[in-house]
Amino acid sequence: MSKTLAIIKPDAVEKNAAGAIIEKIQSAGFKILGLRMLKIDRSQAGVFYEVHKERPFYNDLCDYMSGGKIIPIALEKDNAVDDFRKVIGNTDPEQAEVGTIRKLFGTSKAVNAIHGSDSDENAAKEIVFFFNASELV
Ligand code: CDP
Ligand code: MG
Repeated sequence: MSKTLAIIKPDAVEKNAAGAIIEKIQSAGFKILGLRMLKIDRSQAGVFYEVHKERPFYNDLCDYMSGGKIIPIALEKDNAVDDFRKVIGNTDPEQAEVGTIRKLFGTSKAVNAIHGSDSDENAAKEIVFFFNASELV
């Protein structure tokens, strides 16, 4: 079994899509280990997305992710990182496959409803950003 971090992003929380998104995640075979709803400030968003700090979209991304409530979810499944990337689809909802969360609920390449970790190493770092290890057992 391995872990990944999902975040239901502010746009999806705001449009009341969280329930439908969680249903899709569970139907795809992921076990929810931890879940919370919170608002992060801009500097926390900046730390979470530090890997993108040189990218042209970084400032807008930090504004977006700190602009409303988010729902981080720690997930477990075999091959969790790659399988979850398939469930969410391409970064750009227009390019995402039919039935993926981003195709169903995303608005644009920037405002795309959900986050998924991109490697086991980053999943571990991202999960501790939002959860204490003791909460997840
Ligand atoms: O989220 P994902 O791993 O698919 O994409 P990323 O390249 O790691 O980018 C992180 C987030 O930055 C995306 O999910 C988008 O919200 C945003 N982004 C953007 O606004 N414009 C881009 N050209 C690429 C990403
Ligand atoms: Mg990424």
